[in-house]
Amino acid sequence: MKRKIVILNGSPRLNGNTAALIREFVRGAEAAGNTVVRFDLDRMAIHGCKGCLGGGKNPDQPCVQKDDMDLIYPEYRSADVLVLASPMYYWGGSGQLKCAFDRLFAITESDPGWKTPHKKAILLMAAEGTGKENEAPVIDYYESLLGFLGWENLGSIVAGGVLKAGDIAGHPELEKAFELGKRIC
Ligand SMILES: Cc1cc2nc3c(=O)[nH]c(=O)nc-3n(C[C@H](O)[C@H](O)[C@H](O)COP(=O)(O)O)c2cc1C
Repeated sequence: MKRKIVILNGSPRLNGNTAALIREFVRGAEAAGNTVVRFDLDRMAIHGCKGCLGGGKNPDQPCVQKDDMDLIYPEYRSADVLVLASPMYYWGGSGQLKCAFDRLFAITESDPGWKTPHKKAILLMAAEGTGKENEAPVIDYYESLLGFLGWENLGSIVAGGVLKAGDIAGHPELEKAFELGKRIC
């Protein structure tokens, strides 16, 4: 069965290393017949969660804040797969990605029992550092998050050793991202 994939891109560099991972992933995913919707979060107006617990009342605008999250909510609702794509910033994802992810809570609030919708997830990340130790905090967070949400992990790719935009050229993670995209069906 073909899947709907929603990509939340937390990188502000649209010609950067995260963007290159996304490009290869999308190439594979579309070659396998999937539908991809991508949001470049840095170019959108998305504010941080206010923690008011007052969302979920209006299905069309589930959050009390009115901003570009309203473009993401319907796509998130119908997504089979959510891709979290980001540069590594201080051994976590970017603020852009965290802001958007927190705001998805408004969809959870739309459920009477506050049940988070089930998704499959993928992590795509670029980082300057290399090795398991550098990746560990992010992988631990990502896997714990999925565990708490009950989501299925389809894979994670952290491309280390890339600092400047374009450094990722020739790195094996590009091929891995393509293959990961192609496996989704
Ligand atoms: C604010 C900031 C924080 C960063 N923190 C880390 C870090 O904790 N670990 C790491 O390996 N790289 C870190 N980096 C390097 C980026 O992850 C790296 O440059 C990455 O390739 C950027 O991806 P992009 O091309 O998609 O912007 C940081 C870069 C910036 C600008």
